[in-house]
Amino acid sequence: MIERIKKAADIIKNAKRITVLTGAGISKASGIPTFRDKNGLWRKYSIEEFATPQAFKENPKKVWQWYNQRKKLIKQAKPNKAHYALAELEELFKDGFALITQNIDNLHRLASNRRIYELHGNIFQTKCLVCDKVYLDEDVYEDEQLPPACRYCKSKKTRPNVVWFGESLDTSMIKKAMGLAATCDVFISIGTSGAVMPVAKLPQIAQYMGRYVVEFNADYSTISMFADDVIIGKAEETLPLLVSLIKRGRG
Ligand code: APR
Ligand code: ZN
Repeated sequence: MIERIKKAADIIKNAKRITVLTGAGISKASGIPTFRDKNGLWRKYSIEEFATPQAFKENPKKVWQWYNQRKKLIKQAKPNKAHYALAELEELFKDGFALITQNIDNLHRLASNRRIYELHGNIFQTKCLVCDKVYLDEDVYEDEQLPPACRYCKSKKTRPNVVWFGESLDTSMIKKAMGLAATCDVFISIGTSGAVMPVAKLPQIAQYMGRYVVEFNADYSTISMFADDVIIGKAEETLPLLVSLIKRGRG
């Protein structure tokens, strides 16, 4: 594995534009469960019951209770060494760096990344369906307060500002992400199973455009076949090593 990380570092250190894609695997070491691993969220909860517009329409309070619980857990989580490694990478490559994440846990921002595209939204944002405002909402609520009243118009018709199954992503955001995959020199996929479209298309676009694609994952995924190199290991161990080798290589 070290040899592959060295090879990846050698290529990345000379790159101008780096696009990174992260999934739940990067936050596992921060205590946030993934979705499809053996004790992942979708092994315990049904998507249809908690993460679809239909579920929310039928029982907004129940969906809010589930997200409120997740918010409570995520609020205690801290970025881990993998998150901080990506913050260092952004420091090194500045506006040549872009971070596309499927995670809604805000940990990349806490680790001080700034060029972040949150394709699936953010659990600490609430959207009002009456006045359309989206606002930061870090509060964890008591049951009787759910659904939380809109900060602006006080309506109770609010929802977590996350993307549910069956919903389409913000078109301008996904177009931007596809552009970042197509025009980068290096595409790095970290901790994602590649189970969800259209995000799983991004490494394919990068590979199709002849970019160097490298995957950091604890296991092989559907993205592995599009990667020039696959580095199997825990991101919280492999990424800090990658970044230290890049820094050394750039002198
Ligand atoms: N380091 C690196 N990779 C890891 C680690 C780790 N420490 N732990 C787990 N992984 C990998 C797993 O091998 C798996 O490939 O992280 C991936 C997690 O996959 P999923 O649970 O499917 O999460 P993700 O790919 O982010 O899911 C995509 O699906 O449910 C929706 O909206 C949700 O954004 C999510 C999307
Ligand atoms: Zn409102």
